Amino acid sequence: MAPRWSPDSWRSKPIEQVPVYPDEKKLAEVEEQLATFPPLVFAGEARELKAKLARVAAGEAFLLQGGDCAESFAEHRADAIRDFFRVLLQMAVVLTYAGGSPVVKLGRIAGQFAKPRSAPTEVQNGKELPSYRGDIINGIEFTEEARTPDPQRMLMAYRQSAATLNLLRAFAQGGYANLDHVHRWNLGFVKDSPAGHRYQELAEHIAESLRFMRACGLTPERTPELRTTSIYTSHEALMLGYEQAMTRVDSTSGDWYATSGHFLWVGDRTRELDQAHIEFLRGIKNPVGAKIGPACGPDELLRLIDALNPANEPGRLTLIGRFGADKVGQHLPALIRAVEREGKTVVWACDPMHGNTIKAAGGYKTRPFDLILREVETFFDIHRGEGTHAGGIHVEMTGQNVTECVGGAKAVTETDLSDRYHTHCDPRLNADQSLELAFIVSERLKREREGRPEPEISIAAGE
Ligand code: PEP
Ligand code: CO
Repeated sequence: MAPRWSPDSWRSKPIEQVPVYPDEKKLAEVEEQLATFPPLVFAGEARELKAKLARVAAGEAFLLQGGDCAESFAEHRADAIRDFFRVLLQMAVVLTYAGGSPVVKLGRIAGQFAKPRSAPTEVQNGKELPSYRGDIINGIEFTEEARTPDPQRMLMAYRQSAATLNLLRAFAQGGYANLDHVHRWNLGFVKDSPAGHRYQELAEHIAESLRFMRACGLTPERTPELRTTSIYTSHEALMLGYEQAMTRVDSTSGDWYATSGHFLWVGDRTRELDQAHIEFLRGIKNPVGAKIGPACGPDELLRLIDALNPANEPGRLTLIGRFGADKVGQHLPALIRAVEREGKTVVWACDPMHGNTIKAAGGYKTRPFDLILREVETFFDIHRGEGTHAGGIHVEMTGQNVTECVGGAKAVTETDLSDRYHTHCDPRLNADQSLELAFIVSERLKREREGRPEPEISIAAGE
C-alpha cells in the first residue's frame, strides 16, 4: 500500500529545482490566494484526454504535443497564440490525412512557465546572479531585481494561462478550426517553402473530399467534427506550490485533479522516486507524463511506472523519451522490452529536442534539424522492430518565423541564428520546420498503418 497522499504531501519530501524566495510569508499568501481562484480546466476534460491517450497507447491514434520551451509574459500576444494554433492544426491535418491516424492535440501552452536549470546561478562579466527559472519565478534580464524570485509572478502566470486558454478554446470551437478553412491555415511566410507547397496540395485534396461529402449531405454546419476541434493544455509540473494551489476535488468523482492544465509532466531532472515531484504527480488523476533520458535504465523505469500508474490504467502515463539521436538506439529498446515483459500500458512519445542541443558559434544554443529527424526516425524504427506503437512526438515549436534550430528545407544556418532568436529558453522549431517534421512523421505513420515491409535496419539493443 502506498502511503496516504494529499495535495501537500510533497512538502515532506526532498525537492530539486526550487527557487529561494526572499519572503516565505508573501509566497504563502500568494498560494492561498491562488487556491481561491477558479480552475483553468475541468476534471471531465482531463478524463476525456486520458481516454484519448488510451487510444494512443492501443495504437489507434497519435499524440502531437508541442509548444514553447518557456512561455513568456513579454510575448503574450494574440497573433503568437493564433499562429501556434494554426501550425499545430496544420501538423494535425497532415498527420490525420497523410498519416491516416486520428491525432490528439496537446499544447505545451497556457501554463508552461517554469524551467529546471542546470546551475542555480549564472555568471556574466564576473557578476553572479540566480539563474532565470521561467517567468512564473523570476525575470530573464540580468539584474538583481529581475532575477530575485517574486511570488506575484505566479498570479500573472495564472492570469496569462487563463487568457491563453480562453483564446485557444475560442479558436477550437468558434469556427477557426472549420475544415472548410484548411487553405487559410498556411502562414504567409510558410507558403513559399517546400513544406508549404506540399501543404497546399494536401489542403486541395481535403477541399475536394469536403466537396464530395457536402454533395452527400455531410456539411460542417451539420457535422461538428468538421467544424470544431479539441486542443488540450500541458506543462511541466515544476512549481509544486502553484500546482498544489490549483489542485481541487472533482465533485463528480471525489478525486483530486490538477486544474492548472489537462496534462502535467515531470522533467528528467526531477523524477527521483522518493522526491517531491513524483509524490505530487502520483496523487492527481489527470493523465501525466514523465521525461526519460539516457540515465534511466529498465529497472528504474519500471519503478517509475509503478509509482505513477500503479493500476496500469491505459492513458494515464506517457513516457516522453529524450535520448538524443546518437543514444536513442542504445537505450530505448531495452526500456520497451521491460515495459512489454511486465505488461505495462504506456504511451511512448519521442521528444527529439532535449537530447540534441548543441552550442553554435556565437554562443547560441541550437538544435540541428537533421538530428531531430534522425531521433524521430530511429524512434519509429525501434518501435517497428519491437512490434510496439510509436505513439507520439513532443516538440518545442512556435508559429513564428524564428531562427533558432539550424537546418530544414529552407536551411537556417548558424550565421542566421542571430536574426530572429527569440526563445526565452531552448531553441524551437519554426513553423516551416514543424510542418516539414509533420510530413515526415505522416509517412512513417502511413507505413505503420499499411504494415509495409521496411528495409532491413539494425539497432543496437543496448544495456
Ligand atoms: C523541457 O521539456 O523543457 C525540459 C526541461 O525537458 P527535460 O526535463 O526533458 O530536460
Ligand atoms: Co526545453
